[in-house]
Amino acid sequence: MNVGIIGAGTMGSGIAQVASTAGYTVKIFDASEAALNKAETSLEKILNRLIEKGRIDNQEKERIQNNISYVGRLKDLSGSDLTIEAIVENLEVKQNVLSELENYLCDKCIIASNTSSLSVASIAASLKKPERCIGIHFFNPAPLMKLVEIIPAIQTSEDTLQTAIKTISDWKKVVAVAKDTPGFIVNRVARPFYGEALRIYEEGIADFATIDWSLKTIGGFRMGPFELMDFIGNDVNYTVTETVFTAFYFDPRYKPAFTQKRFAEAGYLGRKSGKGYYDYSEGATKPSPKKDKEIGQQIFDRVIVMLINEAADALFLNIASAEDIDNAMTKGVNYPKGLLAWANEKGIDWCVSKLDEMYDEYHEDRYRCSPLLRKMNTNNKNFF
Ligand SMILES: NC(=O)c1ccc[n+]([C@@H]2O[C@H](COP(=O)([O-])OP(=O)(O)OC[C@H]3O[C@@H](n4cnc5c(N)ncnc54)[C@H](O)[C@@H]3O)[C@@H](O)[C@H]2O)c1
Repeated sequence: MNVGIIGAGTMGSGIAQVASTAGYTVKIFDASEAALNKAETSLEKILNRLIEKGRIDNQEKERIQNNISYVGRLKDLSGSDLTIEAIVENLEVKQNVLSELENYLCDKCIIASNTSSLSVASIAASLKKPERCIGIHFFNPAPLMKLVEIIPAIQTSEDTLQTAIKTISDWKKVVAVAKDTPGFIVNRVARPFYGEALRIYEEGIADFATIDWSLKTIGGFRMGPFELMDFIGNDVNYTVTETVFTAFYFDPRYKPAFTQKRFAEAGYLGRKSGKGYYDYSEGATKPSPKKDKEIGQQIFDRVIVMLINEAADALFLNIASAEDIDNAMTKGVNYPKGLLAWANEKGIDWCVSKLDEMYDEYHEDRYRCSPLLRKMNTNNKNFF
């Protein structure tokens, strides 16, 4: 199978590496020659590092490199069976590039987009054969992250969906199929990890270090929310939240926090700017958390129940299957457990009472309990 990739940036070059490692022939196109050169040299570096670590040998490196060619015209992708677009996140640009691309492709070639936030239906609408269009959403860095969300648009044919699932599984990825709704699975369900942590800080319940300590030691998360926001970049993370919030017609569950907005405006972006919620300059010491077990537990309970509520609501609204929702969070953002499995462990009755308790306290729609959790509690049911 021949794979064509449009865009040789962070995601496009990572996807090319994944496909070529799986033995597929890849052609990668970018409008910028510099981007193509950079992709080629950075792959060389990545493969050399894998050799140093003893993960691959020279022969494997050559095989992976030989499977990829770097091309300077969109037309050069004409022999593809599957194309994946990973250019700028701009609907009009994507529509223009993909409608031009369609002229060069055979009728059976799939046209996929790696978009994180645009509707796949709107991208498909620019094609003569929209049934061949699908969302194939990789996570960064594509070679390391196990999860790929596959998003059929309402126009997508069953054939296109099945071929996409089969191909991506063959690339040794875990597939989660999601409905074409804002944030798909991961970027929707993960919002409270940041949002509720920011809210807890804004209420003055605890500082950044204490909230991070709680989620890491009690929750078992690899990074606390503030460490993670600093890692992702406060500008990027804020924009995702704002996009999801707007796309959901301003549902208060996704409301962005002023704290993060101000950090982004001030240029306190996190690791990449040297300062975010923490100071990353040389010699800086990290503030110590207040290791109060009771407060730590309160913080963890509040964040986890909001995450569980979001996962349950995604299931309630048929965004994905229970298995795919749990896989998405463990394989896409490395959560220590799937959120629905976590709900079983905490007890569905506990989840409902905790959410009702917060709703009673705040009287904000943000804390409304998912109808699915409530129904399951009434019927004494568990997930799975
Ligand atoms: N970076 C992430 O964490 C991430 C994760 C998942 C999905 N995505 C999505 O993947 C896509 C690419 O993101 P990225 O981070 O790799 O971006 P990037 O800026 O690293 O790379 C984009 C590349 O596309 C090229 N390009 C731009 N317009 C083009 C055009 N008209 N024709 C051909 N090439 C063009 C640019 O030269 C650049 O090399 C976006 O849709 C983004 O939302 C990004």
